[in-house]
Amino acid sequence: MTTHPLFATRTQNMKASEIRELLKLLDQPDIISFAGGIPDPALFPADAFAQAFQTALGPGRQAQALQYSVSEGYAPLREWLVDHMASIGVACDMDNILITSGSQQALDYLGKLFLSPGDTALVGWPTYLGAISAFNAYEPRFDRLSIPGNQGAEEYRKAAGAGRVKFAYLSPDFSNPTGETVDLRGREALLDLAEDLDCAVIEDGAYQALRYDGAPIPPILALEQARKGSIEDCRTIYCGSFSKTLSPGLRVGWVVAAKPIISQLVLMKQAADLHSATINQMAVHQVAQACFESHIPKVRQTYRARRDAMLAALQAHMPDCVSWTKPEGGMFVWLTLPAGTSGAALLARALDTVKVAFVPGQAFFPDGSGENTIRLSFSNSDEDTIREGIRRLGQVLRGGDW
Ligand SMILES: Cc1ncc(COP(=O)(O)O)c(C=O)c1O
Repeated sequence: MTTHPLFATRTQNMKASEIRELLKLLDQPDIISFAGGIPDPALFPADAFAQAFQTALGPGRQAQALQYSVSEGYAPLREWLVDHMASIGVACDMDNILITSGSQQALDYLGKLFLSPGDTALVGWPTYLGAISAFNAYEPRFDRLSIPGNQGAEEYRKAAGAGRVKFAYLSPDFSNPTGETVDLRGREALLDLAEDLDCAVIEDGAYQALRYDGAPIPPILALEQARKGSIEDCRTIYCGSFSKTLSPGLRVGWVVAAKPIISQLVLMKQAADLHSATINQMAVHQVAQACFESHIPKVRQTYRARRDAMLAALQAHMPDCVSWTKPEGGMFVWLTLPAGTSGAALLARALDTVKVAFVPGQAFFPDGSGENTIRLSFSNSDEDTIREGIRRLGQVLRGGDW
């Protein structure tokens, strides 16, 4: 890790992940990889995007498509998102929406908005690694968000010491990395806790649209709105993304929140990158309008079959000492290995002997615990590959030599 006396203190928290070294080996041919949590490129609506970019560059549109534009985002896309949010139970208007360069940018801005050094961010244990990295730049302390509340507001406040608990961050639907969903009671309990703590709630909806079975649960923002009447009175900030549904490469995400929060985030966007790429927003708008509704069922159908194949293969091949989550959506299954074992050691062994890759779970814990966990992604391998990869992994686990 390079440090330099000129670098700011915040860089001390920015660590390259140790597992990157191991994951470099993924470039080798014939590796079966359950490592990356990325969409299957075969599902990108590529023809619709080709047409959308052609339209955006056509006569009458190109001046706008290639020009600077407003920081809040492309108005027709924000209008489309007003309807989309209404379809999942959130009533808002265009001024409650900021377009960001992926939802990752929203996490960075929200860290910048709320966290002074030493403030507390409540996060899941484990939680999305990109959120830990984004918040880390603002030098917080992390505390474990437990839902439903085993820990009361007073305990969190005490633990926060001289800092304050500023927000609770979570991905309530099919989280990265565990694939688990927070049920309705958990969401309500979280809102109670946030009221007690008088802190914000950052709801990461990255996988919200990818439900394969079970009834949808309203977003936390919708539940808070039901309590309070207006989004302007809500402390929940919803982060959405087109990355898992249409394309991650175009880097288009959005934030929905009360207007004073959006206004602050707009100032941050102006300072950081002025606005997200105009032409990408125009293309995403055209594709979303033309085919979001018809495209999502195809994505769900493909990933549902892969999830089913992975769960069935785990059932068939894992030794009794291994347990795993049964996600209702998303891209991930989370495995717990016997206590005292190491997911990183298993990865080294699995790569070496059976050419199977995954992510050791430790990276997702702010305190570096969780050594005996691993994350498997099922989104980017077909069913036969999944069955073969899990069979091989079972073989290594049963072999015990790792
Ligand atoms: C939970 C979660 N949030 C946010 C992101 C960031 O996605 P994007 O910036 O592409 O919208 C990811 C990406 O994997 C994720 O898993």
